[in-house]
Amino acid sequence: MASFLIVAIDGGAASGKSSTSRALSERFNFLHVDTGSYYRAITAELLRRGLGIEQVDAVKAALPGLDLGTQVEGRSARMQIAGRVVPEAEIRGAEVTAAVSHFAAIPEVRAALLAYQRGQADVARRHGFRGLVMEGRDIGSVIFPNADLRFFLHADPVERARRRALEGRADAIAERDRLDSSRKTAPLTLPPGAIAIDSTHLTLEQVVDTIGATIAEKLG
Ligand code: DC
Repeated sequence: MASFLIVAIDGGAASGKSSTSRALSERFNFLHVDTGSYYRAITAELLRRGLGIEQVDAVKAALPGLDLGTQVEGRSARMQIAGRVVPEAEIRGAEVTAAVSHFAAIPEVRAALLAYQRGQADVARRHGFRGLVMEGRDIGSVIFPNADLRFFLHADPVERARRRALEGRADAIAERDRLDSSRKTAPLTLPPGAIAIDSTHLTLEQVVDTIGATIAEKLG
């Protein structure tokens, strides 16, 4: 019987990672970490400082001064930059959505987040959670390759576009996936040993039940 579980959930844009991870965190009292929101928060901050995706040297120089922290709200972790949580409205906006894959492709940006993301397991333990459910693109391949459970969600592009439209959000899903899958450092990929789930014809509840059954078995 495991005392604390680390569950990695990777997948492309609008593959259902966030809704699934949030529901699992509620069901099992895990801390939910959406690492996409971390890349988005850093992107919002860099843009706010007037830095663009082509100013790689200035971006690298800004990284050590970001002073990253974590605020736990309910079962969700939020990134703090210099003591401020970047508001959801800002990180989900069109400007950040269009730029985030470009900033996320810079190896130094990823390196700046590596230890921080691994440290979220300690945040979860300190707050008394039973585990951590972390979603992203490289969680099962790079951040926690030895996670207790690793899942990879995919869904047909038409279905993913439909889900984004239902959320009322503009998102170039195919373009972001292309950038995220083709970058040199930690690309979006199905890591060996991860459990792949095609959610195209599944409801959210069915996906959560499938993953939840495996988690429940591990928890004993
Ligand atoms: O999950 P999301 O769509 O909100 O993520 C936004 C972007 O952040 C995504 O296009 C690529 C980047 N990202 C990443 O490179 N690695 C992660 N682990 C999570 C997100």
